[in-house]
Amino acid sequence: MSTTIRLNTEIPGPASRALMERRTHAVPRGLYSAAPIFIRHAEGAVLEDVDGNCYIDLAGGIGTINVGHRNPRVIAALRKQLDAFLHLCFSVTGYESYVQLAEKLNAITPGHFPKKTFFVNSGAEAVENAVKIARAHTGRPAILCVEDAFHGRTMLGMSLTSKTHPYKQGFGPFLPDIYRIPYGEPASSRPAGRLPMSHEDVEQLLDHTFRRVVAAESVAALIVEPVLGEGGFVLPPAGFLQGLATICHRHRIVLIADEIQTGFGRTGELFASTHFGIEPDLIVTAKSLGGGMPLAAVTGRAEIMDAPVPGGIGGTFGGNPASCAPALAVIEEFADGSLLARARTLGERFQHRAYVWQRQHAFIGEARGLGAMQAIEFVDRDGAPYSAPAKKLAHYCLRHGVLILTAGTYDNVIRLLMPLVISDEQFTEALQVVEEGLNTVTAELGELVDTTL
Ligand SMILES: Cc1ncc(COP(=O)(O)O)c(C=O)c1O
Repeated sequence: MSTTIRLNTEIPGPASRALMERRTHAVPRGLYSAAPIFIRHAEGAVLEDVDGNCYIDLAGGIGTINVGHRNPRVIAALRKQLDAFLHLCFSVTGYESYVQLAEKLNAITPGHFPKKTFFVNSGAEAVENAVKIARAHTGRPAILCVEDAFHGRTMLGMSLTSKTHPYKQGFGPFLPDIYRIPYGEPASSRPAGRLPMSHEDVEQLLDHTFRRVVAAESVAALIVEPVLGEGGFVLPPAGFLQGLATICHRHRIVLIADEIQTGFGRTGELFASTHFGIEPDLIVTAKSLGGGMPLAAVTGRAEIMDAPVPGGIGGTFGGNPASCAPALAVIEEFADGSLLARARTLGERFQHRAYVWQRQHAFIGEARGLGAMQAIEFVDRDGAPYSAPAKKLAHYCLRHGVLILTAGTYDNVIRLLMPLVISDEQFTEALQVVEEGLNTVTAELGELVDTTL
């Protein structure tokens, strides 16, 4: 049987190791790389490193390559744009692709109301701007966010982010007037996001915050990821997001959905908010929006988006033509629904395998996810977060030709963010490596494995 994975050298190979040596001298250590390999070519769901080793990519540039590496439509759109012009700056002169992409996003994002969109360069910048817009609209200062959230690495993104190490270590003081609520049941030893919440439960949770922490009428916005990304692919408790949406609406608090990691088909819907029946006032997108080109957007209710005065928002590169054209191609890729169906199928296939693994390996606490946003979480014998298996598994997978990422506040989660164009054969091959990795890690850590299943 022909396989995609092809390993010619030890991993990392000599050429990657030589580049790593140069990197160590040229690039600061604060910029971490999950895998010590250097890539020279990528196609679909396959990466080829500088030593000629081929890997199956289950990381997708952290969820940025949903339509696949070098997606032909994306490449064609980019080539066409290269022949026309590269940069004008939308704050100087207009070009049609910017407007066209805004129209498309206004149409395809959840919410049956008039919308507007503007573009920036990164997810963190989109978060920054969504907050600016919410503040300009409401005239209020405070922002609510949730535990285990990740919203980026700028000063505001970091202030909204939960995980302290390494994201906030040494970077304070953080911005004021930011308040964190639990992602589900308050003050519980249970992992977040387990028990369904009635509307009264959510009311109670927010009532606590509004009485003891910050007055509702001081809150400009509440920002939430529909499924926690860096936080470990945690789904919200049933009823939680709907409850938040109702309460935000009542208090005129702008509900911002951070769909940067959950968006563009990852969960089997274009946007994860759809699964939960919510229509956020603002949605921030980035990552897979650009099909590999840097692009982020804030989309939302027209009257909120129009709050900043002319010149109040913008930036030199935001909505660059070389990013807008590929993004239009990405939206076309999703138009017939087959990639969304593929995301659901991939998720189901992973879940079938992962549920078996869960019964075999005592240290798998939970296999969870939505669509192709899937993860397994590791716990120790007492049910406490256990990072060693996640790290060892990622390490094993890399050495055996599969790139996979960890996540979670306790670094105890393995997550899947593969390009949705991955073939059945490639996915099976990758999962086989994961399975062998689990068995190896189990043996190494001296955990029991039930092989009767
Ligand atoms: C949910 C979420 N929000 C914001 C960001 C920040 O995006 P960027 O790295 O493009 O600034 C990320 C990046 O991982 C993310 O997952």
